[in-house]
Amino acid sequence: MKENELYEQLEFQENPYFEEVISELVENQYCIADNFFTTEEVLLFRNSLKEKYRENEFKKAAIGNKTNELVAKSVRGDFILWIDEANAGLAEVLFFQKINALVDYLNKTCFLGILTKEFHYALYPEGTFYKRHLDTFQNDGRRKLSLVCYLNEEGWNPENGGELVIYQQENGQETTKSIYPKAGRVVIFESQVLEHEVRPVKKSRLSITGWLKTR
Ligand code: OGA
Ligand code: MN
Repeated sequence: MKENELYEQLEFQENPYFEEVISELVENQYCIADNFFTTEEVLLFRNSLKEKYRENEFKKAAIGNKTNELVAKSVRGDFILWIDEANAGLAEVLFFQKINALVDYLNKTCFLGILTKEFHYALYPEGTFYKRHLDTFQNDGRRKLSLVCYLNEEGWNPENGGELVIYQQENGQETTKSIYPKAGRVVIFESQVLEHEVRPVKKSRLSITGWLKTR
């Protein structure tokens, strides 16, 4: 073994939390990671989202390339703001610190070859949803993993709706998994494989959503 490889081995620190995320991902094609971020971090992210939303920085999310507004509205009703890592405030710096640690870990242990990423804040107003879709609907084969971090208030009530529903095929049968958008919960799934939807929201629903990409 070369000297630099020996050094790399010495520096590699096994991370039990990330290891669990990876085993779940390998086993199910998705992973539900509660407490991925601390309560304090989630509070910072939520406040940052709210402030930017108040300042009217969010835009109605579009679908595909240039589709008309009406069609887009019947598919997804969320408002988004792309996050520029180069221009990040404290909340976003902390967010990317952990995301980048995960990306490094995935690249070292799973050889995923994640080179780039894109993340946006999202707010679903009451009454909105995102119909069943695949995150590679824009023919973007670069998206490997989708990652959603929920920023709703603590004590999210199931009656608020807004579940993420993941569809899978098992022996020719379709199975569904409903996931509540609980504060601090992170869901990661294979972008090119899993269809999913956001069920109608009864109370405004906050998150950061993004993709880990191969280039
Ligand atoms: C998306 C998406 C899921 C969620 O933005 O593409 O599917 O739970 N989001 O917010
Ligand atoms: Mn999606």
